[in-house]
Amino acid sequence: MKDEIVESISALLKVDKSLVKIEYPKDRTMGDYAIPCFSFSKELHKSPMDIANYLKENLKYNTNVLNGYLNIFMDKKDVCQKVIGKILNEKDHYGDNDYGKGKRVVIEYSSPNVAKPFGVGHLRTTVIGQALYNITKKCGFDTISINYLGDYGTQFGKLIYAYKTWGDETKAKESLINELKRVYVKFHEEAQKDPSLDEEGRKWFKKLEDNDEEALSYWKWFKDESIKEFDKTYKLLEIDKFDSYEGESNYKDKMEPVIKMLEDKNLLQISEGATIIDLGDITPALIKRSDGASLYITRDIAALIDRKNKYNFDEILYVVGNEQSLHFEQVKRIIEKMGYPWKDQVKHIGFGLLLQDGKKMSTRQGKSVVLMDVLNESIDLAKKYILEKNPNIENIDEVSRKIGVGAVIFNDLKNYRINDIEFNLEDTLRFEGNTGPYLQYTYARINSLLSNKQNLSVSYDNIDINEDKWNLIWNLSKYEENIISAKENNDPSIIAKYLLDLASDFNKFYAHEKIVDNDQNYTEFKLNLSEAVALVIKNGLSLLNINVINKM
Ligand code: ARG
Repeated sequence: MKDEIVESISALLKVDKSLVKIEYPKDRTMGDYAIPCFSFSKELHKSPMDIANYLKENLKYNTNVLNGYLNIFMDKKDVCQKVIGKILNEKDHYGDNDYGKGKRVVIEYSSPNVAKPFGVGHLRTTVIGQALYNITKKCGFDTISINYLGDYGTQFGKLIYAYKTWGDETKAKESLINELKRVYVKFHEEAQKDPSLDEEGRKWFKKLEDNDEEALSYWKWFKDESIKEFDKTYKLLEIDKFDSYEGESNYKDKMEPVIKMLEDKNLLQISEGATIIDLGDITPALIKRSDGASLYITRDIAALIDRKNKYNFDEILYVVGNEQSLHFEQVKRIIEKMGYPWKDQVKHIGFGLLLQDGKKMSTRQGKSVVLMDVLNESIDLAKKYILEKNPNIENIDEVSRKIGVGAVIFNDLKNYRINDIEFNLEDTLRFEGNTGPYLQYTYARINSLLSNKQNLSVSYDNIDINEDKWNLIWNLSKYEENIISAKENNDPSIIAKYLLDLASDFNKFYAHEKIVDNDQNYTEFKLNLSEAVALVIKNGLSLLNINVINKM
């Protein structure tokens, strides 16, 4: 619809299409769309008022002129027919667009740390990243996902030493991750008493850097077992694959060449034995430790240059918490100093903390909470709530899994990502509230109405499109632009909020009007409208990686 308006205005005024802007009037009664006419004045040497009046006389739309704006009133029946028809026809493809056609985006997200449990600390990067991946694909970008495992660094030297010294094979067979946690804690306790242990850890890390066979085989074992564990969490979140599952360790041989480049460009300085880069007004970056061990940022620079060479991206997104903002600013500055012209293609997509009662989520012992435990707890509580509502429900396990997991994901995505968010299991699962279950429930409710459909072709002659219905249809027509805006801002909450609005518009309509009544034609129209809403809820939730349920 917007394209048609742009076409006709640019043809009438003989101006470039890019000059035609379409806005929404603040007051809905003033029109459906508003075209600011100031922007044509310069080109046409006429006043905005004259241009608006000229358009009013010559456009086939119903219009109004106000303060240099041309307000357009759309033909409600025509819009209805077009929008509903398009949604019922395109279904899961409704909203597909080519905003990103011909461009490539790399998205790095999730990136949990090997030899540690998949904690809630990695929930946000995983679900925000996956949603951005889905949204970016929907916008026609060629999209590549990377899971950059934390599988390297000096802690692996300590882990190998600790496991060799205190490891218990039987316990390791039960759960290697738990056993590694135990011996790692022990290492730190012992190292407090005997600092020479740190030297042992360093020795083992050096062996790993030098590809010593024994060190490598321990490291590989830790990593394989960790990945098996991570996959259980991904399975529950229904994240089935990353295009690239690489780790920091992939870059162990690529760091020396980078350090050499930095040296050649005279960017390195020695400070207290360590090698650093001065970055002017921000904290200098530590490139190499005084003992020669390589560092996180050095691997990131090597990885970034490698990815640019490999993928030639137009944009790379790092979905990593706000606490690493300085790190990514340093990475960008270094890339710039190295003379690469694409620093602005590198974007840190930061996000706030997940809090419980205002504090960082942790167990009673102050340790990080395991994500699987949170998801399972949510599934159990969902099951309890659903059975209270409907004791005879079929597939209770599957339904509670979709609701329990969806609730946790939605809670994470519904607020602007930069803000800290509060996690309260009861609130995330409330069926009446701004929650995932509320949307899933709205979907299921519509779905059960649809059994009344007769698949008649609807005549619009006697159909009354009152305010409730018009709001709903207007909102449906804005789906695609919300997807594009979610990509422009790299913010999935735009989709989450859009869906909440849509569901609340639907529930208003549903509360005010009987959907199935004696008038067959009118009933069929209302069912088509409801089906369109259900399809868009399903479509939008799938962008957030949340499933719908047909019956509940
Ligand atoms: N594994 C890291 C962590 O858990 C996150 C990695 C972020 N990505 C990056 N390219 N540095 O803190």
